[in-house]
Amino acid sequence: MGTRVLGLGCGNPGGSAEILLIEALRAAEADGADVELVRLDDLGLDPGPDDDAGWFWERLIDCDAWIISAPIISRTVPGRLKVLGDRLLGPNADAAIIEGLLAARLRGEDPAVPFRVDERVLRPRVAGFIACGGSLTTQWKTLALPVMHTLTFSMSIAVVDQMVVEGAGTPRSVVLDPEAVARAATLGGNVASQLGRGLDDAEYLGPPGACPLCRLDVVVLRGAEVECATCGARGRLEGAGVAWTDLSPSVISLEERAAHYREIVETAGAHAARAALVEERAAAYAGYPTVRPGAAKVTTSSRSPRL
Ligand SMILES: Cc1cc2nc3c(=O)[nH]c(=O)nc-3n(C[C@H](O)[C@H](O)[C@H](O)COP(=O)(O)O)c2cc1C
Repeated sequence: MGTRVLGLGCGNPGGSAEILLIEALRAAEADGADVELVRLDDLGLDPGPDDDAGWFWERLIDCDAWIISAPIISRTVPGRLKVLGDRLLGPNADAAIIEGLLAARLRGEDPAVPFRVDERVLRPRVAGFIACGGSLTTQWKTLALPVMHTLTFSMSIAVVDQMVVEGAGTPRSVVLDPEAVARAATLGGNVASQLGRGLDDAEYLGPPGACPLCRLDVVVLRGAEVECATCGARGRLEGAGVAWTDLSPSVISLEERAAHYREIVETAGAHAARAALVEERAAAYAGYPTVRPGAAKVTTSSRSPRL
């Protein structure tokens, strides 16, 4: 089997986001990749018998490239895409955390953190993002690509292209925009050209952006100090632009995620030493009444986290 491109369509079945994704997948296929399209709509994401999160994880872990195509909903990605990320990604899929836990195992240590260790995460992968909106103005799209990055950074997947489409506000109407359709094909080709590469050696082929790491332009300002809102790279306002002074705090950098891993282990250790105090103080909040659909006001016991 050749290199695999996994396409995740997060919009209406047959809708504009899916049309752009198919265009990208066809281009990748024409360049020799094996491709497959999964509809987010087809996945059960609630823990229980119909839960498909594990099924999707195996497809993701088996791919060399992930293309995500999503409609823009209330300025960002659809909530179900975030649910998928909450179920599968973050610390449980973080390459730096997995490397840290593997190294600890080799030293015979057992850090008291509850994360999965799936070494298959460490294979190099690239990604491409397509965000498809109905609006013609930028302010209705601002948070779509930044949130898409939250799906790739933990696994150290290198984003090699990203695009935003406007004006596709009625069903399937993106077909009226040949430039958008052609751009999606270019994105598919760009992704295919980087198969087998990862964070270390993938070439970014998308549009330029202010931040040298995520290539987006959404920032936090503290006076003249700048922090990239998508990835955390640091800089200073200088003239009309940003002088990026420190890329190491970016969550895209393995250095930052290794530091974050150490912080998590230290925090968990400090809390473990105070476990009795946590129990004692948290007891004051147990049993607070909640309301639920179809039930009278009930007193519930506290539950452990679901994720
Ligand atoms: C609830 C809802 C919220 C939306 N919010 C935005 C938005 O904030 N910005 C935007 O550009 N388009 C917005 N749209 C339009 C969709 O992004 C657009 O119609 C998209 O092409 C739908 O893609 P699909 O048919 O592939 O699902 C919204 C649509 C819906 C239904």
